[in-house]
Amino acid sequence: MKIGVFDSGLGGLTVVKELAALIKGADIYYVADTKHAPYGEKTSEQIIQYSLNITQYLIDTHRIEALIVACNTATSAAIKHLREHYPSLIILGTEPGIKPAIQCTKTKNIGVLATPATLKGEKYQQLVSALSAQAHEKINLFEQACPGLVEQIERGDIQSPKTKEMLHAWLKPMLQNHVDTIVLGCTHYPLVGPLIEEIMHHKVRLIETGGAIAKHLLCQSEAKGHINEGPLRIFLYVTGEIQTQMIDHIIKQHEPLKKIDIDNQK
Ligand code: DGL
Repeated sequence: MKIGVFDSGLGGLTVVKELAALIKGADIYYVADTKHAPYGEKTSEQIIQYSLNITQYLIDTHRIEALIVACNTATSAAIKHLREHYPSLIILGTEPGIKPAIQCTKTKNIGVLATPATLKGEKYQQLVSALSAQAHEKINLFEQACPGLVEQIERGDIQSPKTKEMLHAWLKPMLQNHVDTIVLGCTHYPLVGPLIEEIMHHKVRLIETGGAIAKHLLCQSEAKGHINEGPLRIFLYVTGEIQTQMIDHIIKQHEPLKKIDIDNQK
């Protein structure tokens, strides 16, 4: 099986890590679109165009059979368009794990950290209203957009004083309001998970969705005949700059990184 995965940068590698723990006998082609990062501060039209270009590249060059949009922001803006353009491709997106958070919380106070574009998006608003209507008890959501956090992570500043200061300010209302569960609504944020736990005095459960995506992909691909045996190879492509030591911090084994130019492909 050939699987395409993309994100604006390092974040989607947190999903690749979960895929690598479950999927066998496959090649993963990962595109980090750092030339256009951060997606969370771009318009929907721009995000749709980047997503379509990357998918076309993955189909033309690597003949992918499945696509993982390992980015909440791109899922929110572009998944509908991707499904319309590529109806025969298995396409899985990434959405903030509000549902598992509702199942986990005891205090009924849930934090949501995401990019400005994800929180503003119609898809997120619909998810929240559908789940709140189904919930048996009233749930309080503490939503927080985190502009600038993706850039800190891309720089490898996952423990720097500035990153700590930003997170302290964003998490303060959650700490004061007994939030016991925080949804990491951006695939970059698990990389600052240890820092979030420290600021929340280790009294919080962090929800990320990479593991669920991996299970979902395995299920869908086995239904189409994939046999989950044999080696897994991970090929990495970047459209701009990337911190290679961060890549190695997230995934241990991969093929050498290559730079690509998707904007000027024919
Ligand atoms: N990793 C991304 C997400 O899940 C995108 C971050 C960004 O580029 O703003 O939303």
